[in-house]
Amino acid sequence: MERLERLALDALPERAFAFLSTGAGELTTLRDNVEGWGRVRLLPRALVDVSDPNCRTTFLGAEVDAPIGIAPMGYQKVAHAEGEVATAKAASESGVLMTVSTRTSMPIPAVAEAMKGRPWWFQVYVLKDRSITEKLVDRAVEAGCGALILTADTPLVATKPRLAETSAGEFDLHLAELEGTAAEGSGRRDYEGLEQDPALDWSAIAWLKDLSGLPVVVKGILRPDDARRCVDRGADGIFVSNHGGRQLDSAAATADALGAVVKAVDEAVEVYVDGGIRSGIDVLKGLALGARGVFVGRPVLWGLAHDGARGVEEVVHALQTEFLEAMALAGAPRPSDVTRDLVARV
Ligand SMILES: Cc1cc2nc3c(=O)[nH]c(=O)nc-3n(C[C@H](O)[C@H](O)[C@H](O)COP(=O)(O)O)c2cc1C
Repeated sequence: MERLERLALDALPERAFAFLSTGAGELTTLRDNVEGWGRVRLLPRALVDVSDPNCRTTFLGAEVDAPIGIAPMGYQKVAHAEGEVATAKAASESGVLMTVSTRTSMPIPAVAEAMKGRPWWFQVYVLKDRSITEKLVDRAVEAGCGALILTADTPLVATKPRLAETSAGEFDLHLAELEGTAAEGSGRRDYEGLEQDPALDWSAIAWLKDLSGLPVVVKGILRPDDARRCVDRGADGIFVSNHGGRQLDSAAATADALGAVVKAVDEAVEVYVDGGIRSGIDVLKGLALGARGVFVGRPVLWGLAHDGARGVEEVVHALQTEFLEAMALAGAPRPSDVTRDLVARV
């Protein structure tokens, strides 16, 4: 992954790389996410038949070839001209779950088409103007999305001091869905004005379920009490995330928060995790701590910047191959064998 990050650094203008890679505040959480997985230690099982390891699983019932998903990320055209369409092609080829951001730079139907019938989920930022969110959700449902991800950690966008002079506007980006939808009724084209609703509360889960008829996964959960509340409010899944260190700086690393959330949920719904996943061993650790699957953010953008769809495939393939090896070495030939007892309490 470090090699790919260097290749992305070479492929992108400095400010574009900074825009995609940075985090909030002092980058404490951004760094800690990666280090958090490094702190977890494993207790591999001996003498298990691992002659036929297989990492296929399901995410909310949808079949995937590996417990590795593409995290929702907007603005992908900053990384590559084909943006989210290239990422979707790679996800479809690799058999992993794709997610599409509200801030996608390619139209939802084009991304859906590139998925060729494979599962994908739509990430929802509930905007101040709810009618725009309604239209976006309708478009996602119509295009065949399998679930919604409600991002719950972004009542407003955190300050990123290292981007003081940079804004998405400078990359001459068209936010395919937001600008188009806003332009229809209001005449607005300034997507900076289409902000997340800071008054959003727990009623959003039921609202989105009613609106879409789809399962809703709540993303940005770090606290066990919030996880319980998600279950009580009808969420179908929980996504342990601190937005890759791009929201509240000093928020706990996801590797540190995951175990308590899993315990609080007590198998009522599936739990996913993202933030700092950089190797197949990290994937194994995520599952061992109770996640159904892990999602990957920035490394996908490095692959995309370096070589479009092929670069993203390279990233997914590397993680999947490493994960298969890690499963075999841990004595856990199936994802369902990757259980809590593999984690050493040190
Ligand atoms: C450039 C960029 C754009 C992102 N855009 C979104 C977004 O639109 N919606 C969202 O819920 N999360 C967004 N995220 C957060 C990711 O979904 C994910 O939580 C995070 O990147 C995972 O951490 P990692 O990059 O260390 O793998 C974005 C992250 C990056 C790096």
